[in-house]
Amino acid sequence: MLEHPKTGQLLPCKCREVAIVEARVEDAGIPERYQNCSLQNWNALEPSLNIAGAMARKFVREWPAVDHGILIVGPVGRGKTHLAVAILLDLIRQKSVRGVFCDFTDLLSRIQATFGRNADENPDEILSPYRDAELLVLDELGARRPTEWAREVLYGLLNTRYNRNRITILTTNFDDEPEKPGDETLEVRVGSAVRSRLFEMCRTIRVSGPDFRKEVKGKGRAF
Ligand SMILES: Nc1ncnc2c1ncn2[C@@H]1O[C@H](COP(=O)(O)OP(=O)(O)OP(=O)(O)O)[C@@H](O)[C@H]1O
Ligand SMILES: [Mg+2]
Repeated sequence: MLEHPKTGQLLPCKCREVAIVEARVEDAGIPERYQNCSLQNWNALEPSLNIAGAMARKFVREWPAVDHGILIVGPVGRGKTHLAVAILLDLIRQKSVRGVFCDFTDLLSRIQATFGRNADENPDEILSPYRDAELLVLDELGARRPTEWAREVLYGLLNTRYNRNRITILTTNFDDEPEKPGDETLEVRVGSAVRSRLFEMCRTIRVSGPDFRKEVKGKGRAF
């Protein structure tokens, strides 16, 4: 704390603000691999990625005057998680947003682990930070086999956020029109009640182009 030279009032030093923001980044639960993702290192190597980057920057710029989240849709390796994390990090760092990252598959596994008798957490404790967060990034929507139980967990979480007008960014490999005949739709993966809410809660960003892991990160890698 620093003493104001005129009023003598005690005020938090700038260095504390930095520490608070970095603690928030730490608490956001971003997986290690994605901690350096940003909109600055977002490569717009094809038009859909350029549009996606521009939409993401606009979203960050306009926060908190945004009334919708984002649903990022596309095949594997197109940068969906990268983009979602980049927005989350920018909003934490630039606008002190209380935001958290949640991998939906991990979430279900953590909840399942509480079903044993000696679990130290209960499902409500696990879900509560995600229900309440000012901003939630829910990664890998629909990735897990859509059992009735998984759908109920998802519905419970998103319906609470819907009712509370909370902003959510989601990523998914599933679209409304399947890429190939026979592929499942997003509605089939998440259930019609969740799909319906997402239409109102989110604007959609579609990313296409090459699989970054294969075509960019993995290029030229030989033993
Ligand atoms: N446009 C991009 N600019 C810079 N890096 C990118 C871009 N797209 C993807 N990457 C990088 O490629 C890797 C894969 O991206 P990411 O994990 O975000 O893909 P994804 O679409 O979420 O894939 P999945 O559907 O398998 O979860 C990451 O290391 C990410 O940082
Ligand atoms: Mg991903």
